[in-house]
Amino acid sequence: MSLTENAIAPSIAKRFARIAGTGSHLPPRRLSNAELAAQLAERGVETSDEWIVERTGIRARHFADEHTTASDLGTIAARHALEAAGCSAADIDLIIVATSTPDMVFPSTACLVQRKLGVHGCAAFDLQAVCSGFVYALSVADSMIRAGTARRALVIGAEVFSRILDFDDRGTCVLFGDGAGAVVLEASDTPGIVACEMHADGRHVDILCVPGTVAGGKVLGDPFLKMDGQAVFKLAVGVLENVAQSVLAKAGRQCSDIDWLIPHQANIRIMQSTARKLKLAADRLVVTVDEHGNTSAASIPLALDQAVRDGRIRRGDCVMLEGVGGGFTWGAILLDY
Ligand code: UT7
Repeated sequence: MSLTENAIAPSIAKRFARIAGTGSHLPPRRLSNAELAAQLAERGVETSDEWIVERTGIRARHFADEHTTASDLGTIAARHALEAAGCSAADIDLIIVATSTPDMVFPSTACLVQRKLGVHGCAAFDLQAVCSGFVYALSVADSMIRAGTARRALVIGAEVFSRILDFDDRGTCVLFGDGAGAVVLEASDTPGIVACEMHADGRHVDILCVPGTVAGGKVLGDPFLKMDGQAVFKLAVGVLENVAQSVLAKAGRQCSDIDWLIPHQANIRIMQSTARKLKLAADRLVVTVDEHGNTSAASIPLALDQAVRDGRIRRGDCVMLEGVGGGFTWGAILLDY
């Protein structure tokens, strides 16, 4: 081999990204459907545990107190992920926070997490893709690691959706919760992440949005979450099957290769329908929507961490992550844990 070939060999060696550790955090205040229904009844809003369970599978959610922000939740989740990965914040060279409920207009929640972790210098930015945010963020971190731009990334999904809920709108306020999940993603000679896809269709911006903004020292427009639930439901069911099939084809794998399916946790009916279409047994589906509600960008890393910590997901298992949400956005990641 010539000197030149020798010199370029390391830079063309295949590089992958693998999850080194996971972590999560839920704010302590848990509200059952019955407790939430009782609070809503006081303001004349009628709902019931039966309706919420039957239509969504949700039994409870966690709400942060008024002083707790997305960066607070995200920092605790990140610390757990770092501990699981056996590294410290100083070993991280990239922080991405997927959130739609940032602490401030700017700077990014990622910069606030970096400060709370007591480090500085590494790249830190937020990624906004609503409930697809974690899948988008993990795909971006994977690309950056494979490109050699980063070696070890903290990828976090952190949300305080309770801040943007209209508690007079029973069609949405019973669905969401607060929480955060995180992973440490690091460079590896073997996958790791096998295949990813991200998609968006901006024609559907109106079916799930918070239309307000800040201008002239005031909130301009409506600062609460609006959703056409049925329109989102129909789109979600279609794209989740298609994107899973597409990512499997890219990876050269079959549905039967999937050990665990972790879709965005919004509605048990959407999740079960996706599992059925992929011909997966019900016990291959990781479900946290019952206890967490829909935590948007935090839902997938929360579910992943739960299944890793309770021993269901083991090293080498094939895991499909699927995000879907406002934008309209969707995406999937196939990985060997
Ligand atoms: O995170 C991004 C992804 N998001 C999603 O995937 C959410 C997708 N959509 C859904 O999960 C479902 O569409 C919902 C759970 C939001 C709604 O379920 P649905 O079966 O589509 O119900 P609906 O909106 O068609 O409403 C049915 C009935 C209505 O009453 P009428 O008009 O039939 O008398 C609603 O007013 O249920 C009523 N309703 C409620 N009743 C009691 C709506 N919300 C409530 C409630 N409690 N909280």
